[in-house]
Amino acid sequence: MYAQGAAEHSIEVRDLHKSFGDFDVLRGLNLNFVDNAITTVLGPSGTGKSVLLKHIVGLLEPDRGEVSVFGRDIWALSEDERYVLRRRFGVLFQDGALFGSMNVYDNVAFPLRKHTDKSEAEIRDIVMLRLSEVGLEKAAFKEPGSLSGGMRKRAGFARALVMNPDIVMFDEPDSGLDPVRTSLLNDLILQMHAEHGGTYILVTHNIPTARSVSDYVAAVWQGKLVHYGPTEEAFESEDQFVRQFLAGASAGPLGMD
Ligand SMILES: Nc1ncnc2c1ncn2[C@@H]1O[C@H](COP(=O)(O)OP(=O)(O)OP(=O)(O)O)[C@@H](O)[C@H]1O
Ligand SMILES: [Mg+2]
Repeated sequence: MYAQGAAEHSIEVRDLHKSFGDFDVLRGLNLNFVDNAITTVLGPSGTGKSVLLKHIVGLLEPDRGEVSVFGRDIWALSEDERYVLRRRFGVLFQDGALFGSMNVYDNVAFPLRKHTDKSEAEIRDIVMLRLSEVGLEKAAFKEPGSLSGGMRKRAGFARALVMNPDIVMFDEPDSGLDPVRTSLLNDLILQMHAEHGGTYILVTHNIPTARSVSDYVAAVWQGKLVHYGPTEEAFESEDQFVRQFLAGASAGPLGMD
């Protein structure tokens, strides 16, 4: 496993526990994300990947353990400080699509209008630049409901990046996309990361995506981290769970339960 040494990381998850009712979702998860790299988080459905992302952005509070971002335990911060910290994140949630009542332009402009005092002219320049990066200038004034799934993902991506975030998290950006659009979205993720940098965390069930996009792979199972390391290493892992998951095999420790 990749050395999780003492060096400071922008995102450190330590002994994270979270239960809902009597279901223990996270059971002592430890993970220091490598800075300025793309890490994919893999794991079976219901294993707590989305719950993990919500802890990192400070939307859920740990039952035990902590998440520190830029060296600060986020729940030791005041609510105002946490709010300010969140501006450094760009997040595309699994279920959090665009605001249906706003066109694409207003969706992407929303964080700038909410969190900055930029003029509408400055906002227009930034929004149109972001939309051109994701190939959506022509769709700027369309309502989300009239776009294809792939266009909505790209619009969500533009919105997630509009504040120049230091940390970008995508929860299954490729769900519901065909293989070609998934590939195009992956290229876009790589291109944006190369241009803007930042620590990216990507949750996906798509193994080709994990292989082509990520620098590091984190595998989560039964509430714990079972593997973290460079992508090639993960694909050569001897761990039974990691092997089964990356191969999509039915035989192995992981069953339907
Ligand atoms: N706010 C909540 N209240 C109660 N239970 C929750 C809540 N959020 C998540 N859970 C439960 O925690 C477990 C982990 O959920 P989570 O959404 O993190 O899974 P996941 O790994 O992201 O799965 P998938 O790959 O299907 O998206 C699930 O059993 C889910 O029902
Ligand atoms: Mg999820």
